[in-house]
Amino acid sequence: MKTLAGPCILMILCLCSSAEAATAMDLLRETAVSWTGALPCGGWDCECAFRSQQGCCCVAKPLFELEEATFIRLVGLWEGLSNLNSQIEEVTAGCKIAFTAAMLPMSGCLGPFTSNMSISYQSVSLNQGNGYNAALGTFTAPHAGLYFFSFSAYSKVGDAGERLYQKVQLMKNGQLIASSWEDNREDSEDSSTQTVLLQLRRGCQVYIELLSGRQLCGDTQGYNTFSGYLIYPFSEQ
Ligand SMILES: *[C@@H]1O[C@H](CO)[C@@H](O)[C@H](O)[C@H]1NC(C)=O
Repeated sequence: MKTLAGPCILMILCLCSSAEAATAMDLLRETAVSWTGALPCGGWDCECAFRSQQGCCCVAKPLFELEEATFIRLVGLWEGLSNLNSQIEEVTAGCKIAFTAAMLPMSGCLGPFTSNMSISYQSVSLNQGNGYNAALGTFTAPHAGLYFFSFSAYSKVGDAGERLYQKVQLMKNGQLIASSWEDNREDSEDSSTQTVLLQLRRGCQVYIELLSGRQLCGDTQGYNTFSGYLIYPFSEQ
């Protein structure tokens, strides 16, 4: 027992459960009696520990302070975590947004019209988040974010020598973003695809227009398509 170092004595002091405390106090007394050097108590009140049966009295104050400080930090951490949780909730809520739609198969032509006409792709195979309105052909962003869009324009005029004359454009809130076009008499059938990345606010509208005077013909398979999805959301400030 003589080999017990000062810090160990102090640890024994802190065994506060009653059964252990009794043995610990015996051990402590024994150790203290046979201890020859100075006790390395630091700033603590060692006298208290030897007189009182409450082995912890000499460290009660620092312990209470530690408990208080720990509690305050825990409360702070808890608040921080709750804030983080609600931010994550806000950013990711309803963020499974994806749609893909095709024009209904047709034997004739769409157009020509006298004005730019929004195309309604009515065969909807996916519409997660309900951003796409098939009746209008318009996608309305349910959440702010970076979005991917693509559209394919297909036309077949039939016999060689006839004029393939189409222009299709992707619009964002009335603003022209991208287009694909064709004007020739060599090809009687052609298709093209455009892809764009767009930063959208919630409520922004994206749709495809067929330009006035142009036409899309002979799409018997639903080759004219319009698709989009959310790549990642922005938190709305
Ligand atoms: C149709 O779109 C074109 C852009 O490709 C534009 O120049 C033209 O003014 C538009 N027409 C109408 C009536 O908005």
